[in-house]
Amino acid sequence: LSMIQKLSTFNNRYYKSPTGVESAKFIYEKWKSLTSMRNDAKIEYFNHSSWNQPSVILTIQGATPETVVLGGHQDSISGYFGGSSARAPGADDNASGIATITEVIRVLMQNDYRPTKTIKFMAYAAEEVGLLGSKEIATDYKKRSEPVIGVMQLDMTNFKGNDEFDIVMMTDYTNNEQNKFVGKLADTYLGTLKWGYDRCGYGCSDHASWHNQGYPASIPFEATMSDMNHNIHTNRDTLDVSNNTASHAAKFAKLALSFVIELDR
Ligand code: BES
Ligand code: ZN
Repeated sequence: LSMIQKLSTFNNRYYKSPTGVESAKFIYEKWKSLTSMRNDAKIEYFNHSSWNQPSVILTIQGATPETVVLGGHQDSISGYFGGSSARAPGADDNASGIATITEVIRVLMQNDYRPTKTIKFMAYAAEEVGLLGSKEIATDYKKRSEPVIGVMQLDMTNFKGNDEFDIVMMTDYTNNEQNKFVGKLADTYLGTLKWGYDRCGYGCSDHASWHNQGYPASIPFEATMSDMNHNIHTNRDTLDVSNNTASHAAKFAKLALSFVIELDR
């Protein structure tokens, strides 16, 4: 909750605005402080050549190079063409996803979790302008033959759109086998939770960047496309639209935690 609140206070997190760089630094410092006691943790910026906002990558190094990626975009935008001064709190899109990832990091560290495989947490820059940050990262990982065995994208986790589903998995630009696995995780660890499938119809978020490079990706989403939060990309994407709680996002934190741990075996 506090992470969503804090991230929403930046005027925007636009990829080309000063506050978009400040918000990246805030995420960097937050993730760094959560892992400061761990010598197997490394926090770094992934710098991009065409704009100032860096992506943030936290690595928990395991004994083996196989890597699980949990990511979401950090940037926000207001209006169709954005602009570097427009107010864009981006509470749901996508402070919620970054906060959910941060919660997973917090819980793993609090329990002194020591992975066998390598776990990477990513806050992508410049998603809202064409998945640019994740595209550069996924392309770089592919070029270096990085053994990423699974990617989960968290983009919009805190608006409960309808009573029918808690979590909706997008079937396009994702890996069908892995989606079934995530569904099984939901059934196993979040018994009463209701989940279903929908499709974006286009590469709607950073999972598509990984998918396009041949890596297995999934995106558990807050609702069906028709029932999702329609205040995104406006100055009305605020936490009060989700009743000032993070209760919906908490389900995604549990699911993502089980994803990381069950792939790490
Ligand atoms: N979070 C949104 C959109 C979204 C909708 C993600 C449904 C997942 C499921 C995302 O940040 C976004 O706005 N993406 C862009 C696409 C991109 C290629 C510019 C969009 O949908 O216009
Ligand atoms: Zn988004």
